[in-house]
This record gives sequence, structure tokens and C-alpha cells, in this order.
Amino acid sequence: MNQPMPVLKHAPRPDRDVMAETFKLSSRLGAQPHPEDAVRVGIMRRIAAARLRYHGLSPLVEDVTLIVSELLTNAVQRGKGTVNITMRVDVGDLRITVTDDGAGRAIPSAPSADDESGRGLSIVVQLVRERGGEWGTKHRSDGKDGKHVWCTVPVTHNAQAGSTE
Ligand SMILES: Nc1ncnc2c1ncn2[C@@H]1O[C@H](COP(=O)(O)OP(=O)(O)O)[C@@H](O)[C@H]1O
Ligand SMILES: [Mg+2]
Repeated sequence: MNQPMPVLKHAPRPDRDVMAETFKLSSRLGAQPHPEDAVRVGIMRRIAAARLRYHGLSPLVEDVTLIVSELLTNAVQRGKGTVNITMRVDVGDLRITVTDDGAGRAIPSAPSADDESGRGLSIVVQLVRERGGEWGTKHRSDGKDGKHVWCTVPVTHNAQAGSTE
């Protein structure tokens, strides 16, 4: 790990998410996702940045908004139905989870230098590892199509600042 550990200024209540947003994907235009969904990714990124700052996690804004963009873009491009994003602080980690109802799996690839796509998940995995976190994906538990793609980023909690909130 070669990144300084971010310190939480405000303690989010354990039962409260740093971020929790759900949206329904618009109908596809043929194979292409609807432009409205791409706009939604940008809105989610800005909400994520604001929520991170509110919780005293400004040092994470750059990396986590990139992670949020990549995971949500994948959900918009390949998912269907409902997309859900949550960020929650849990036992020393910020956990980011993106869920969609589409079939298929999120698999990081190793693109060659001139491939124009296929880097998003590899970038997420690298950012998370540099911060000492983890990533993973799992199928929905009810047997229907859909998956959760998650990652964790370690944070420490400034108990003194948190106790004044
Ligand atoms: N939410 C998802 N649903 C289905 N497949 C996914 C999802 N996210 C990623 N994948 C699969 O993992 C691959 C790697 O994703 P990524 O590294 O973001 O590359 P890219 O999006 O440029 O293809 C994708 O090409 C796709 O096959
Ligand atoms: Mg991608």
C-alpha cells in the first residue's frame, strides 16, 4: 500500500450509508445504452464526490469518483433493469457496491497497448490495491440475472472529531 490512509472527520452512523442511490435504466437504442443513462453516471459521480466530502473523505474523491464512474458505466453499458450504488463505512473500510440486473460477469481483462477499451475494471482493481483494499463480484443470491460488483478502500476514523458531530 503506498497511499496515505484517509481519516474520517465525521462518523457516519453505522446504519446510514455515505451514499445510496437507485435508478432504472432507460430502454436501449439497439445495442447502445440510452444517452440519459450516461448522463446519470455523471450525476452519480458528482453526488459521490459531495457525499465523500461531507464525510471528511476528500482525499478519496479523485480515486473513488473514478471507481464509481467505471463501475456505473459498466452497469449502464451491460446491465439492465435497476442499478443501485451504495457506499458505506464498515469496520475500517469504505465499501462501494454497484448492482445491476443484467446477465454476464465483470471480469478484468489485460488489453494490449492499442486496445481502445477493456481497461476500466483493471484500473479499479489497481487503484483499490494501491490503497490496500479489495474488490470482488458476486451473482445475485436469488438465482435471477444480476450481479454485485464491490470494492473496499481502507479509512481510519477520527473518533475525536466524530464525537463532536
Ligand atoms: N456490470 C457488468 N455486467 C456484465 N459484464 C460486465 C460488467 N462489468 C464488466 N463486465 C465485463 O467485464 C469486462 C471488462 O470490463 P472493463 O474493464 O470495464 O472493460 P470495458 O467496459 O471497456 O469492456 C467487460 O468487457 C464485460 O465483458
Ligand atoms: Mg468498462
